[in-house]
Parts: sequence; C-alpha cells; structure tokens
Amino acid sequence: MCGIVGYIGPRKAVPILIESMEKLEYRGYDSAGLAIPGQDELLVLKKEGRLDALKEKLNGQSYDARAGIGHTRWATHGEPSDINAHPHTDCTGQFAVVHNGIIENYMSLKEWLQSEGGHTFCSQTDTEVLPHLVEHYYEGDLVEAVLKAVPKLEGSFAMAVISAREPGKLVAVRQDSPLVVGLGEGEYFLASDIPAVLKHTRSIYILDYGEVAVLEAGGVEVLDLKGSRVEKKVTEIKWKAEEAEKGGYEHFMLKEIHEQPRALRDTLGGRISADGVSVVLDEVSISPEEIRGLKKIFVTACGTAYHAGLVGKYVIERLVRLPVEVDIASEFRYRQPIIEPGTLVVVISQSGETADTLAAMREARRQGARVVAVTNVVGSSVAREADDVIYTWAGPEIAVASTKAYTTQLMSMYLLALYLAALRGILEPGKIGGLLAEMKNLAAKAQRVLDNSPVIREFAGEIAASRSIFYLGRGLDYAVAMEGALKLKEISYIHAEAYAAGELKHGTLALIEEDVPVVALATQEALIDKMVSNIQEVKARGASVLALAMEGLEEVEKVANSVVYIPRTHPLLSPVLSVIPLQLLAYYTAVARGCDVDKPRNLAKSVTVE
Ligand code: M6R
Repeated sequence: MCGIVGYIGPRKAVPILIESMEKLEYRGYDSAGLAIPGQDELLVLKKEGRLDALKEKLNGQSYDARAGIGHTRWATHGEPSDINAHPHTDCTGQFAVVHNGIIENYMSLKEWLQSEGGHTFCSQTDTEVLPHLVEHYYEGDLVEAVLKAVPKLEGSFAMAVISAREPGKLVAVRQDSPLVVGLGEGEYFLASDIPAVLKHTRSIYILDYGEVAVLEAGGVEVLDLKGSRVEKKVTEIKWKAEEAEKGGYEHFMLKEIHEQPRALRDTLGGRISADGVSVVLDEVSISPEEIRGLKKIFVTACGTAYHAGLVGKYVIERLVRLPVEVDIASEFRYRQPIIEPGTLVVVISQSGETADTLAAMREARRQGARVVAVTNVVGSSVAREADDVIYTWAGPEIAVASTKAYTTQLMSMYLLALYLAALRGILEPGKIGGLLAEMKNLAAKAQRVLDNSPVIREFAGEIAASRSIFYLGRGLDYAVAMEGALKLKEISYIHAEAYAAGELKHGTLALIEEDVPVVALATQEALIDKMVSNIQEVKARGASVLALAMEGLEEVEKVANSVVYIPRTHPLLSPVLSVIPLQLLAYYTAVARGCDVDKPRNLAKSVTVE
C-alpha cells in the first residue's frame, strides 16, 4: 500500500519523481505529494486525489532541486485529504518523511512527543510522528537521528527522509514494507517497487528487513540498524521498461489479459525435460525422500492468489493423492493450523509482499513447515523468506485486478503437482508427458479465447446496468467462478457472487428473479448433466444465462440464453482458458460503466498492511 519514490543525482528531481510516482500509482491513489530541498527549507507539495491533481498544482514547474522524495497514498490512518497526504514534516519544516505501512504505537509516541517536546501535529496520520521523532533526535547528523528514531517504532513500514539541514542526502529504512534502491550512472533512485526505476536502471539493491540506505550524489551506502555497513549484492532485473508501459492498450488490465499467451509460455519455459515427460523444477530443493514423506499440503494466499490455490488443491489432490487444505492467509495464522512433520506449505503471492500472506508464511515456518513460494516478483519478501521459490514469469503486473498472475500461478501449481506426483510414483511418465504436452498447447488456445473478445464485449454491454450477477460452476469451474466474480466486483462495482451450482437451491435460488444475469461455467464433461440441470433451475426462475462451455459440450446450448466456448483441453487444465472470458467480461463491463479499470475505488495493488 502506498508508493515511495526518491531521487538524487545530476538531473532535476521533480520530473523524475512524478514519472516514478506514475509507475507506482497502482499502490495507492487517494493523494500524492513530494518534498524537495529549497533555499534554506524544504518545499513540500501535496494534494488529495489522483497524481494528476498534484501535477496540476505543480503547473508545469520542474524546480531546480536535484534530490527529493515522493509518495502516492492509500489511506489507512486519516481520510484522504491535502493535510493527511505525504510527505509529513516536523515542527520546523526541516524534515520531511514519506511512509508505507503502519506505525502501530503512533498514539503513545505522539503523546510523548507532545508532552515531552511540545511538538505540534496537524494530521490524523500515524506517519506524522516520524518527522517529529527525527527532529527530536537530530543533533547534526540525519543518519544518526533516523537510527535513533527507528527503534522507537512498532509496526511494519518503509520510509524515506529528506532534510533541509543535509539537502544532499536521502535516508531510507525498510522494516517489512518493500523498498529498492536503483543504481544508475551517478544517480540513485528509491522505490517501493521495481517498475518505478526500470526506465533508469535494472541494477538494484533490494533492501532487507532492518536495513537503512543512505543515498548521496556520490553513492549509496547500506547500513544495519546499529549503523554498521552492510555489503549488498546487486540484483539485475530482467523485466524490460516497456513491460511496465501500456503499449498502446487503453488500460494495463487489458494489456495484461492479452499478455497471457506469452506469460504462460514463459512460465513453462525450461521447466519441461527435453523428452517431454518430466517437470524440471531445479529451484525446488526438497529431497525425494522428503517428498515421499509428505502427508499433507497447506496452500495459503489472498484474493486472486487464493483462488489459484483452490484450483491447486483440486489438481494436487487429483494427481498426487495428498490431502490439501487451502486457507485465506489472514485466517491461517490465527486458527492454529495443525502443522506436523511431513507438512508442506505453499504460499502464493503475485507481489510477494502481501502482509497477510507473509505473516501466514512466517507462522508456518515458525511451526517448522517447509515452505514453497509461488511468486512473480524476484527478490520479494515471500521469495526471500521461503525455503524454495517457483517464479511465475508473468512480467510486471500493474493493474490492480490480477489477470496474468492468476493464469501463471495456475501453471505453477500444475507443474508442482506433476513434479510431486512423479517423485511419489503416483503418475507414470506417459501420463505426465500427456499433461505437459497439453500445457504447452495452452498458450495458443488462450490466444484463440482472446480472439473471441468481441462476443464477450457484446455480452458485457448487456449486463452493465445490472445490480447483481451470479456465477455458477461445479468442481474446478466453481473455483474459476469465484475468480470471475471477484474480477467483476473489484472493477465494475456490481455485486457478484459465485456459487457451487449444486448449492444454489439451498438458499440462494431465492435471489434469482426475472432477468438476473447468471454466468454458468460448464467445462467439466463429467459434471455436464448436473450443470445443465442447474442452468435449467435458474432459467425456470427467469435468469438470463450466459454459459461458458468447453467445445464438445454443446448440450448447454439447449438451456442457456447464449454460449461462449473455450477450446477443448484436459479438464484439469480448463481454468487457464475459462478464466480469460471472465476477465474480459469484467473488463468490458467496467469500461461500459465508465469505471476507472486500473485504479478501482478503495483498492490498491499490494496490500502490505494487515
Ligand atoms: O500480491 P498478491 O498476489 O499477494 O495479492 C493478493 C491479492 O491482494 C490480490 O490477488 C487481489 O485480490 C487482486 N486485486 C484481485 O484482482
């Protein structure tokens, strides 16, 4: 949540800060601000609303400053407003701070600063204690003041500090919330996420928990919280700058939906043996003995990643014959899960920074579980803390609504399932080879689904005025229905609910009335007769049914109002294809309703607070 940026170097800072903030706006977009050194004081400009409002305030001025910090906010403490926008400053206006995360003990710190030091506060934020603390401890050395302030703080956060007293310096601290330092030629960048620096450099330091970066025009030094120097390894990022651009599409979401064939290919790339009959997962270091000794698997994640986990459960149970429990990460850690020897925990997170997922992972490791992470961001917290990492090679996902991350997470779960099944001797190579061959075909089949977009667009026009929509499915189709409903809710603000089709008659059928739209998934041949009956049940109550069926299951045409087909594939793999029309349906519905697709209200891309 919230995006932090910083720049120091020979170029004018403001245009670079604004450009970097544009790249991070998906992290929060209710207000934005920046601070740069002026003559003897700091110049702080901030504004409620989208980044455009701040740009308007800047009115084309680029200022002369060669250093600065900036912020895009997703409010936690205090409503979105000019005053609550970051940067926040101290009483003297000499120190400014931008912050991501939550300072849990800010109330007691505020009271202490008010009573002991007579500090005055003007915002409702937790962040405002930070510049006052730095002011309190400042005795001529900004780094020392920050090092004294940090141990007073409880919570998870990342922050960047600039001071008029030492204008040629940025000090940044990472305690949980992500922060990277971009290493340019004689210039340095600070950002909460990699896309913000990609235009300038692909060499970065990924700050670890409890590290402090000091950026000056002459170089970057990384310290621990005691002030001792830390040797950092430079990470080279493979993503290209263009991947973080819209590339001619109206929205990032549409671009990312269309990138799925490429992302699916990349995620499979190098992970299938030359003879095509086994999975190569060099990144997973669990020994064959450990794999044979597995008794249970937990999958834990949030949102879309959780939905990928639900598909993963189905597939692993089918192919590996091991029991799998899937938990929403924010529930997992508080329900005292039974983690015994032989338990594997799989965490799924596109960003690798979701606070609830991280907390669940830490709890699992604390209890002695082995953790495999499925994540998209190299060097993310989840990637760094897990025992093993399977990267989804989706490329940067910028739109808040997750699309290509989901389908590549599915691909990773299939790979993991087949890998485990082979090592446990459950599936013979021929069967594994058959599934792998079909997985290779998915990219081309996904392209065929995308080529069918106009039909979905037409249907989106029909449902755009609806108040409520139901998604039905059985088995894997139910898991995909949940993802389809989430997509529609988050970007079009239409109430959408997914139901296991057989469960509908146990209560929810009461909500079906004349013309209520129902999206019915029918890709599972073994369940088709039951699904046809469920469609008939809603049709009899007046529902207007769009069926999403697999080629060859034409019997749905007799009962649905309209049918969209996905290419024929193995039933276990169908979620990769069936989710795409649902992503498009959500997208075109949101566009038809005039919603801001890439920046839906109240949401942010990475949820780094619990
Ligand atoms: O980065 P993560 O995969 O951990 O994020 C988890 C959820 O916040 C995310 O999938 C969210 O549900 C998406 N906005 C849904 O489109």
